[in-house]
Amino acid sequence: MTHYILAIDQGTTSSRAILFDEKGTRVGQSQQEFPQIFPNDGWVEHDPEDIWSSTLSVCQSVLKDTGIDAQAIATIGITNQRETTILWDIDTGKPVYNAIVWQDRRTSGFCQTLSEQGLSEKVQEKTGLLIDPYFSATKIRWILDNVDGAREKAQAGRLAFGTVDSFLLWRLTNGQSHKTDATNAARTMAFNIHTQEWDDELIELLGIGDVLFPEVMDCSADFGVIDASWLGAAIPVNGVAGDQQAALVGQACFAPGMVKSTYGTGCFMILNTGDKAIRSEHKLLTTVGYRLNGKVTYALEGSIFVAGAAIQWLRDGLKLFADAKETQSLAKQALNDDSVYLVPAFTGLGAPYWDPDARGAMIGLTRDTSVADIVSAGLRSVCYQTKDLVGAMAQDGATFSSLRVDGGMVINDVMVQFLSDLLEITVERPCVTETTALGAAFLAGLQVGLYQSLDEVEALWKADKCFEPTMAEGTGDKLYLGWQKAVDRVRTRA
Ligand code: G3P
Repeated sequence: MTHYILAIDQGTTSSRAILFDEKGTRVGQSQQEFPQIFPNDGWVEHDPEDIWSSTLSVCQSVLKDTGIDAQAIATIGITNQRETTILWDIDTGKPVYNAIVWQDRRTSGFCQTLSEQGLSEKVQEKTGLLIDPYFSATKIRWILDNVDGAREKAQAGRLAFGTVDSFLLWRLTNGQSHKTDATNAARTMAFNIHTQEWDDELIELLGIGDVLFPEVMDCSADFGVIDASWLGAAIPVNGVAGDQQAALVGQACFAPGMVKSTYGTGCFMILNTGDKAIRSEHKLLTTVGYRLNGKVTYALEGSIFVAGAAIQWLRDGLKLFADAKETQSLAKQALNDDSVYLVPAFTGLGAPYWDPDARGAMIGLTRDTSVADIVSAGLRSVCYQTKDLVGAMAQDGATFSSLRVDGGMVINDVMVQFLSDLLEITVERPCVTETTALGAAFLAGLQVGLYQSLDEVEALWKADKCFEPTMAEGTGDKLYLGWQKAVDRVRTRA
């Protein structure tokens, strides 16, 4: 009998449910977009009820569409947009405010104050992170300070905090499970990545000690059993990881030195550094790659806030094309020289600049600039930002000759070829580009014995295509110089 694994991938712009068989072959998928809420400049929110209802609906649809009985699902893996912060009343299960999304910059002033108080060193030492609105902790503080009754509820011990994985677990188990995993915890700025515990000192300093923090588990663990009413069977959840770390697992980057980049809403490059938590001197993040059987595999991460979101903006905001698939042919029609640059700093700049107040720009426009040129500049901005990260990693002593890529954008050959040209390395695209969901499925499958080891998981990884650099020498450097000049024009701090 085939055992199926249901992977829930709750991302920034859509919720997905993907059914895999135990060989890691996708047998069905359902996806639903949900509204993005932009209440203010630099603010990004989601309605947690949209997160919940879209997640439940895609899970139900994938079962219906494939005709697979819920009883045949051995386990569930959850992967999620990280850092996004939800506080909910444990008596009603109702959030007290919208989810404050990872991209949200509203706490930039508070972060500035924390830095001025000299906390940067302590935060980096304990959490591996830089003080930035990106992470959950200052978002929790904002809700406590700004939402009527939230602090009182927290003081009464009735307010739970969770990243999206925890919130979904709570809902799926009808309030029986308040848990998260080490990769999600590592993105809160309240978790000590060395001791693997919530850090009481930081929590106190940040003034968020009254909320209930979830229990932190390995990525493969017993997270709870979903209520049978949701999908028709009481299925255990056995895998949880933040989406970027799940992709590291789905890409089978298990050896130190292996690196992957995922192109979703943002772009996140993660380098496996084994059992060493390497401290970056060049504004990368030290984080948990995965934690299995209590053993932590650390990683260095470069986080870019806008990748696919730039293409979404060109499509939905500027209406330059109707379907992202068109970007490939448009990019082929573009001039593709060093004239037009798009810096998509819509919500500030992430690594290696960490400039929350920067905003986007398009430069080099002339009367003959075409839609194709702008679209190509959008695609290329994603590659230039990746080169920024590779440069920071190199300065931190990490060099590599190949990069595994995944995520929605990498079906675009033109973009991936340009990436290889610019980075001057081999870029490997796997057969399954939904590696985030696949990683969550593997983590769940490991816990219930569908896989015995990471070696068994690694054997399932297959390349679809390897892109080799083809551009004439010097061309990439010239193009990249233009990008650096464009970025300099939007930066607000050194
Ligand atoms: O850190 C944010 C990240 O987890 C969001 O991922 O795939 O929604 O861009 P994605």
